Amino acid sequence: MTPETITERLAAREARPIAAEPTTIVIFGGAGDLAHRKLLPALYNLHVDALLPERFAVVGVGRTHLSDDAYRTFAREGVEHFSRRPPDQAHWQTFADRLYFVQADLEEPPAIATLGARLDTIEHERGLPGHRVYYLAVPPSKFVPTVNRLAAARFVPPVDAPQHARLIVEKPIGRDLTSARTINDAIARVFDERQIFRIDHYLGKETVQNILVLRFANSFFEPLFNQKYIDHVQITVAEEEGIGTRAGYYEQAGALRDIVQNHMLQLLALVAMEPPRSLDADVVRDEKLEVVQSLRPLEGDCVDRDAVRAQYTAGLDTGKPVPGYLQEPGVDPNSRIETFVALQVFVDNWRWAGVPFFLRTGKRLPKRASEISIQLKAVPPILFNKDATNPLDPNVLTIRIQPDEGFALGIMSKIPGPHVRIVPVNMDFRYSTRFGATSPEAYERLLLDVLTGDATLFMRRDSVEASWRWVTPILERWAERTADPLPTSPAGSWGPVEADRLIEATGRRWRRL
Ligand code: BG6
Repeated sequence: MTPETITERLAAREARPIAAEPTTIVIFGGAGDLAHRKLLPALYNLHVDALLPERFAVVGVGRTHLSDDAYRTFAREGVEHFSRRPPDQAHWQTFADRLYFVQADLEEPPAIATLGARLDTIEHERGLPGHRVYYLAVPPSKFVPTVNRLAAARFVPPVDAPQHARLIVEKPIGRDLTSARTINDAIARVFDERQIFRIDHYLGKETVQNILVLRFANSFFEPLFNQKYIDHVQITVAEEEGIGTRAGYYEQAGALRDIVQNHMLQLLALVAMEPPRSLDADVVRDEKLEVVQSLRPLEGDCVDRDAVRAQYTAGLDTGKPVPGYLQEPGVDPNSRIETFVALQVFVDNWRWAGVPFFLRTGKRLPKRASEISIQLKAVPPILFNKDATNPLDPNVLTIRIQPDEGFALGIMSKIPGPHVRIVPVNMDFRYSTRFGATSPEAYERLLLDVLTGDATLFMRRDSVEASWRWVTPILERWAERTADPLPTSPAGSWGPVEADRLIEATGRRWRRL
């Protein structure tokens, strides 16, 4: 049987070209930050790699007045600053030729007709058959009105029609379970679930995709991935940057909604899931969903015990003074939004019974580092591990998501010589050494998957809602406890003492990154 999806082709180690049909990619929010930094550079790189269909058009839509030429300049600046490859003249020219901009404010009813007429002209001129991808790179408050306009203007053919329409939705989908359901319901009235691609860009990262390969293409690890051998798991998503100019968004979000609800629960699901019976998108997503549904609820006073939140105060970023969260432009000086979260979480199933998963994430931490470490149980206190005052380091498998992508095995070894002296050593694998420096960006892989209709790396509705179902009681508890002091930690430190106490109360420590 011929493998159908990209994931299946990778599994079959197939190198044949990936066939995307000629498509018009319509980016709502086309002149925004996401388009500038991520989407246009990703599309450019796909074009250079000859992974886009031969016939395609990218149409940015936004309220700003921009000519096609001005949009091409905007795109070129984005590629110059943010692409993994600088633009080269030949590729840039053929790419830029296919870029267009339509000024349209979808709050104004006639705008959709203007957009429709322009899309028809572009498709006619470029010989495009009318397959369309609509990308919602707009704030969540615009999701539902935009989708409703698309429906009213009959831009969305049914899923089995000859011309396809696909919708890409950026996170955050909602602020809690209720609002996520409202958005999902509204989108579902217009698009079939098979037409909807909910992006969590972490799933497009090479190292995240490699978690399944590491677990299920090797026999070393899988037999050990259970409560019999694993002491605990730590997942860290640390960022050195503060919130920059994103106060408008971040003040409504905070670290739990911004990072834990999506990226971190997805990482946890990939580490903890059962082997799927195939690489079919829904089979993989079913197994991940099962993990999220098995998370032990954190509710009521359990939140006070197992969830720590904090805010950064003024401090240092690589020696340079930086402001605290409350002094960032656009932040309410009384804001109680958390910029740091640490959690102790349990997956209540047979495989992981009793194994704590410690999660921590924050802005303005000492460095940018996302990693997962799986710590095995200590060897018994016999032979080499008899000295209780100086126990051997337990083995650890560390998966470095970014930067310095790779993984390492921390093991014990004898120092050569007549005495038995044992030290920890690291077996380290680096992507850059083995595969060269530039892996494709997450958005490249994800956009390509949308073009080929492969939903494996996207969030299904049930999974988004299951994550919100788990996260919402934590948010509710925090909203109730307004009189509790909010822990703080200076920028450039690894979070508040409360986070250390959370893990140290269990006899463990955060790993030093
Ligand atoms: C986004 C968050 O989803 O991920 C940002 O909204 C965060 O706050 C970003 O900075 C981190 O992504 P990456 O790929 O740089 O780790």
